[in-house]
Amino acid sequence: MRLIPSISALVLAGVVFSPLTLPTAAKADSASAVAGKMQALPDGAAVYKHICQSCHMADGKGAEGAGAHFPALAGNPKLKAADYPAYVVLNGYGGMPWFAGLLTDKQVADVVNYIRSHFGNSYTDALKPEDITDMRPHLSVEEE
Ligand code: HEC
Repeated sequence: MRLIPSISALVLAGVVFSPLTLPTAAKADSASAVAGKMQALPDGAAVYKHICQSCHMADGKGAEGAGAHFPALAGNPKLKAADYPAYVVLNGYGGMPWFAGLLTDKQVADVVNYIRSHFGNSYTDALKPEDITDMRPHLSVEEE
């Protein structure tokens, strides 16, 4: 008998809150599935600051401890070939999420060029947005 009042309380709560919460949730989902629409990130520094630095840290030195392993981008020899970080950003890798659905070709090229020329890295060969177009996985969230 005790269940009945709590179930009706839940139903009531659902009736009261769903008109408020559902449209918001739907908007957030569709926005994140459109490349480049999350927010304007005009250059590699902005993409790094808003997306990458939460895990790889502002100084690019990564973070370790409590089971976390966020590799350093500073002095990382794996950044020598530009295709590698571009692939990781587009497709994700291990514990890192993929960003192909979130970032435009230009934003991916910008952030890869940024991490390869900052934090003590000084690779001068830069990727162009067209290079990223060719590397993109041919699958988008909205098509699924
Ligand atoms: C949610 C945390 C998170 C975010 C955000 C994130 N990364 Fe990562 N990144 C990781 C983790 C964890 C790994 C290591 C994955 C593994 O080894 O399994 C990684 C690996 C990498 C690697 C490969 C390093 C190596 O030594 O192989 C590169 C390059 C990289 N990230 C660049 C970026 C860039 C650029 C961004 C921003 C667009 C970014 N990451 C955003 C967590 C993150």
